[in-house]
Amino acid sequence: MSQPTSNQLQIFLDIATEAAMTAGAILQTYWGKLDGVEEKGRPGDLVTVADKEAEAAIVKVLGRHLPHHAILAEESGQRGDQKSEYLWAIDPLDGTTNYAHQYPIAATSVGLLVNGIPQVGVIYNPFHNELFRAAKGLGATCNRRPIRVSGTSTLHQSLLVTGFAYDRHQTPDNNYAEFCHLTHLTQGVRRSGSASLDLASVAYGRLDGYWERGISPWDITAGVVLVQEAGGTVTAYDGSPLVLKSGRILATNGQIHNKLSQELLQTPPLSSWT
Ligand code: IPD
Ligand code: CA
Ligand code: CA
Repeated sequence: MSQPTSNQLQIFLDIATEAAMTAGAILQTYWGKLDGVEEKGRPGDLVTVADKEAEAAIVKVLGRHLPHHAILAEESGQRGDQKSEYLWAIDPLDGTTNYAHQYPIAATSVGLLVNGIPQVGVIYNPFHNELFRAAKGLGATCNRRPIRVSGTSTLHQSLLVTGFAYDRHQTPDNNYAEFCHLTHLTQGVRRSGSASLDLASVAYGRLDGYWERGISPWDITAGVVLVQEAGGTVTAYDGSPLVLKSGRILATNGQIHNKLSQELLQTPPLSSWT
C-alpha cells in the first residue's frame, strides 16, 4: 500500500477539477429545461437527464486520465479494477431535488479514496460559481483562495446543517428527533438539500457543524477532505473514526465536536416535544 506523493495528489486534484467543471457545465445546460424527472424507487429520490449526462462526463474524464482507477458513481455504480488502491466516489448532481425545482443549491462532487481514506475532493456549484478544492496535506480552497473552519466554540452560538435520507418515510431512525433537539440548543439547523455543499460550508466557516445518517460515500467523500483540510474534524456520531459505509457522519469546526457528539447521542425521543 503506497501513499501518493504531493505531486500526485496535485495531479489528481486537477483532474477532479476538470471532471467537476465539465459536469457543472452540463448541469447549467439543463437548468430549467428538464423534460421530465424520474423517481428511482424510494419516494422523492429523483434522477434527471442532467444527473446521467453529468455522471457520464465525469467518468469519461477520469477514465481518460486514470484508466486504472476504480469508480463508484451514484447513478451507474462501480466500475474498473476493484482491487485498485484508488476509488473515485462521485455524485454528478448532489441536490437533485433542489435542481428539479430550480432552487440553485446543487453541486457536482468528485472525491478520491486511497486505500479507503478520503484524500482528494472537488465540489463545484455552477449556480453560485463556487469551486471548492482540497487534497490531503495541500489545504482547502474556494475559488483558489484558502478557506478555514469557523472559530465558534459553543453550541448556543452555532449554526448547524443536516439532511434527511430518502428512507425517512420507512424508518423511525429518520433524524427528526435530532433535528428538533439541536434546533432547540443552537442558533438554528439548516437543511440545504446538498450534503456536499453542507460539508463545503463547514469547511468555509459559514456553518459550524453538519451531521447526517443514511448518507452514501459519493455524497461525502470530497466534503470530508475539505473539512479536514480546512482544520475541522470528521468522525462517526460518537467521535470514533468515520466509517464511510455506515452512512453516519459528524463534521464540525472541531471546537464544538464533542458537545455536538454528546447531544446527538443523548437526543430525547420526539414525543418529548408534544
Ligand atoms: C441527497 C442530498 C441531501 C441529503 C440526501 C442525499 P442527492 O443527495 O445530498 O442533502 O440529505 O441524503 O441523498 O439525491 O440530491 O444526490
Ligand atoms: Ca447526493
Ligand atoms: Ca446525486
